[in-house]
Amino acid sequence: MKICCIGAGYVGGPTMAMIAKQCPEIPVHVVDMNQERIDAWNSDRLPIYEPGLDEIVREARGRNLTFSTQVDQAIAEADMIFISVNTPTKTFGMGAGRAANLEFIEKCARQIARNAKGHKIVVEKSTLPVRTAEAVKRILSSECSGATFDVLSNPEFLAEGTAIEDLLNPDRVLIGGESEAAINALSDVYANWIGRERILTTNLWSSELSKLTANAFLAQRVSSINAISALCEATGADVDEVARAIGTDSRIGPKFLKSSVGFGGSCFQKDILNLVYLCEHFGLDQVAAYWEQVVTMNDHQKTRFSERIVKTMFNTVSNKKLAIWGFAFKKDTNDTRESAAIYICRDLLRERAQLTIYDPKVPEATIRRDLLAACTDMHGHVNADDQALIENNVTVVNDCYEASRDAHAIAVLTEWDEFKEVDFQKIYASMHRPSFLFDGRNLLDHPKLLECGFEIHAIGKSPEQRSNN
Ligand code: UDX
Ligand code: ADP
Repeated sequence: MKICCIGAGYVGGPTMAMIAKQCPEIPVHVVDMNQERIDAWNSDRLPIYEPGLDEIVREARGRNLTFSTQVDQAIAEADMIFISVNTPTKTFGMGAGRAANLEFIEKCARQIARNAKGHKIVVEKSTLPVRTAEAVKRILSSECSGATFDVLSNPEFLAEGTAIEDLLNPDRVLIGGESEAAINALSDVYANWIGRERILTTNLWSSELSKLTANAFLAQRVSSINAISALCEATGADVDEVARAIGTDSRIGPKFLKSSVGFGGSCFQKDILNLVYLCEHFGLDQVAAYWEQVVTMNDHQKTRFSERIVKTMFNTVSNKKLAIWGFAFKKDTNDTRESAAIYICRDLLRERAQLTIYDPKVPEATIRRDLLAACTDMHGHVNADDQALIENNVTVVNDCYEASRDAHAIAVLTEWDEFKEVDFQKIYASMHRPSFLFDGRNLLDHPKLLECGFEIHAIGKSPEQRSNN
């Protein structure tokens, strides 16, 4: 058995590294058309940051894990081919802003069809709209090369930042397909380290739909608690207390009830919009509207946060220095896709704030690229005002202290552990008064910060300041 994976991204890279680690007898070849990304996988600086990944790659690379751009050759040699390419939301044409762009999947399928000989098992790893496997099957059989194919759906449930743990010890592995032999072949790979009772098999369409549904349910929980956070701020209730109170009901459970500046990441919004598009396609308009509200609420949470900053700071942040702590969409990743920080920073820039941004893992170039993209319209234009603001009003620095020096306010947008460890006395001493702190993750020790003198505005909580302020 030889495995090949097309797409060396956040999903393909760690997943294949884990398979290679757990199955030393199976050669695993990860290919990507992006030479720079492959070079990084072959270097000491991997292209993605994920705790524990370096060790696994180091162990398996050169033994049975290879990274290259030789897509055609890898396809020809493999018995099992994973498709792990990106499926972003379409930005043009039919279904723009909602449907998944399947261009990369189709190109991949055509490439497999052209290069395959004998029998291949093709595994969909990317999150796809329901019934994509049918299209993949048709494309695969269109080349008439004599090769035969089984198509499986094997959605990935790993979360970034905990990818290695999720891959090592998943709640379940889901395999959807029609051919028992193909399902067994893939189950055998996972059974090298995962108990068979946790390997669920379904038909193809259930598997594809389960992935979208799981992400929609998770995102819905975050939007639900975020909706309640607005009510908490209005009434004096505390969202963390409410979350704890409802989370102890075993029917609700405690996970995914952490109120925040809004969910980000490459999956939640994309998958819900995909679900919405599917529902509309099948004429299920009420169902579509129900799920779309989860995204609407998330957008509202981001806007609400930046508006709260402006209103609290005497209705103007123009030319005030604001320290932004964290830019990634959550801690322990360098990924910024759909990060709430992008939109909050954009809105604050448009209020003419001077932003000093620090994130432990996100490089300056990524921050600037994301802000530009967030200011780009459907025709690819960025207006001159926005461009000037990004150039002149954004500084990216190397630590929290530098970010906060001479600042009027700090906004915590990502829940990095290191933010809890800083010397807040020192930070407070270097800031303007009043020293506002907007905790968008309810991460910090608020009583301690109050003691230092900060005025605290946290998600889902009433504002707090020292009584003698
Ligand atoms: C998600 C799913 O969890 C994973 O199963 C799927 O394979 C891919 O999508 P990921 O996007 O990596 O994973 O991160 P996740 O931990 O789910 O967080 C998504 C967003 O929700 C983050 O911005 C996070 O900060 C936010 N979130 C999560 C909250 O705001 N509150 C919570 O309680 C949980
Ligand atoms: P994900 O989070 O789903 O892993 P990424 O964008 O991180 O998404 O990774 C997807 C990768 O797939 C990218 O590195 C991209 O270059 C690669 N890719 C897309 N289409 C093809 C293709 N036809 N052949 C090879 N690689 C591809």
